[in-house]
Amino acid sequence: MGVMKIGHVNLRVLDMAAARNHYENIIGLIVTDEDKDGNLYLKGWDEWDKYSVILSPSDHAGMDHVAYKVENDADLDTFTKSIEAYGIRVEQLAVGTLIDCGRAIRFQLPSGHTMCLFAEKTFVGKSTGDINPAPWPIDVKGVGAHWLDHCLLVCPLDPENQINTIADNVNFISKCLNFRLTEQALVGPEQDIQAIAFLTVTTTPHDIAFVPGPTAGFHHASFFLPGWGDILKAADLMGMNNVKMDVMPTRHGITRGETIYFFDPSGNRNETFAGLGYLATPDMPVITWTEEEIPRGIFYHSGELNPAFTEVYT
Ligand SMILES: [Fe+2]
Repeated sequence: MGVMKIGHVNLRVLDMAAARNHYENIIGLIVTDEDKDGNLYLKGWDEWDKYSVILSPSDHAGMDHVAYKVENDADLDTFTKSIEAYGIRVEQLAVGTLIDCGRAIRFQLPSGHTMCLFAEKTFVGKSTGDINPAPWPIDVKGVGAHWLDHCLLVCPLDPENQINTIADNVNFISKCLNFRLTEQALVGPEQDIQAIAFLTVTTTPHDIAFVPGPTAGFHHASFFLPGWGDILKAADLMGMNNVKMDVMPTRHGITRGETIYFFDPSGNRNETFAGLGYLATPDMPVITWTEEEIPRGIFYHSGELNPAFTEVYT
């Protein structure tokens, strides 16, 4: 029983043709469907469910919702009970409300972000198949991202007014959804205010993360690449295609991930993330970053924060 992995992210985009080109030809996702409302569904070549990204036409960018896949249909009833007992309202979504998915539940995190849980999504398989597979598909496009790895959400933090939706989110998804805290940053005079939190349901360093901001928003969706060489090549390809990058290839202290941050044509931030960092089994001690070392936790080499990275989000 439990939340198994990230399922998909639904992003709002301003120009569908430009977005399609970006996610298909730069990130290398595969378009698997398009519905009558103009929503586009995409997956990474190494993913087997029908989609991990939904692009929805809109007049403003940002994230509509993030969804996680649970192991069994009955888990949806168990989670409905635990989430409602926690005091958060749960909406029941009929089969197909999330296209090509079984029934689902929808609720808001304490930070105001919308999350869905589902158990079933149409299976289409990896591009390389599951019998004697090649290591990668010969027709892979762009940077050839393997899968949607995680999302990072901006959550209101205002200690003077006793508002900390990062800590509230951590408490909620740990207690109700069995996410495990892997890394955190603590700030304030007593070093007891949780200002950054990374949590996992798998054994990767994070399946979701929360950072502070004045208002709730979407910081980035991250796509997995196998290694540092792939990150360098991804940055080459972004340069060739004039993709706007705000962080050039570097390493995080938090998660030890190797990274590039860049924007889709609507201004939604993306990341290519390489390396699985470490094995985050349930008995791994939580890693804590102190306030003065937060910049190094974020950008390990420079040890300096970049305001364009911390203050710009959709
Ligand atoms: Fe990330």
